Amino acid sequence: MQPSRTSSIQPRRPSRLFRRVGSAIVLLAIAIIGIDFLLTVYGKYRHLDPAVYTMFWTRRGWLWTHLAGGALTITLGLVQFLTQWPRAYPHLHRWTGRAYITGMLIACIGATGLIATSPAPFAIRAAFAATALAWLTTALIGVIAIRGGRVPSHRRWMVRNYLVTLAPITFRVLIQVPGMMELAPPPVMIPLLLWTSWLLPLLICEGVYRTVDRAGVRHNNPPQPKPLRGPI
Ligand code: HEM
Repeated sequence: MQPSRTSSIQPRRPSRLFRRVGSAIVLLAIAIIGIDFLLTVYGKYRHLDPAVYTMFWTRRGWLWTHLAGGALTITLGLVQFLTQWPRAYPHLHRWTGRAYITGMLIACIGATGLIATSPAPFAIRAAFAATALAWLTTALIGVIAIRGGRVPSHRRWMVRNYLVTLAPITFRVLIQVPGMMELAPPPVMIPLLLWTSWLLPLLICEGVYRTVDRAGVRHNNPPQPKPLRGPI
């Protein structure tokens, strides 16, 4: 029936446009905050000075390894999500993806060295180790998904992985919230915020996916009008 077909398509347009504009705004905000983070970090550690490096001075090799990989993942992740490469240039998308994973592995090697040599309390080192584990696990599931040809699952796992990549940026935003560091002493607050910096974005993302899935199911299976009487 023609009229009902048109009516089932029309309501979808505004929501699709809304989603596109929404994700463009979110990505742009991430790009601005991410670039600002990288400029601050590289601005700080470009001075080869023990007073600037403080506790990282004797471990600067690990820090540089970590920062090199970290910068690569933040930048390439932005490129992947901001462009239309996955659809328009699959070959480019694949190679950027491989470089992204390589950057993540380099950053993880640096992070492992930093955790192993860190003078920080166990709770902080454990929180960093959990972040690294979440980073590696989400990437591994994303790679396995695409190897099995499951594109939507790959997309979602790489979004989750990028949210973990952004954990140091989220952490920086969280500690700058006025009054946040006064809620508890630093040995409690820092590990708590390290966990929150990737668990909270993942939880929000899960909420969005569930809402989108529920709306999709409703759209594909519109409720059937109930018969007023039972079958004759
Ligand atoms: C998501 C997984 C990540 C993990 C598990 C991780 C882990 C760590 C660890 C263990 C340290 C040293 C802490 C210490 O010794 O007390 C550190 C420091 C640092 N990481 Fe990461 N990191 C991650 C992602 C990133 C990314 C993507 C960047 C971006 C470049 C980054 C930038 C930094 C910086 C700048 C520092 C030095 C902090 C400071 O100046 O106070 N990290 N990270």
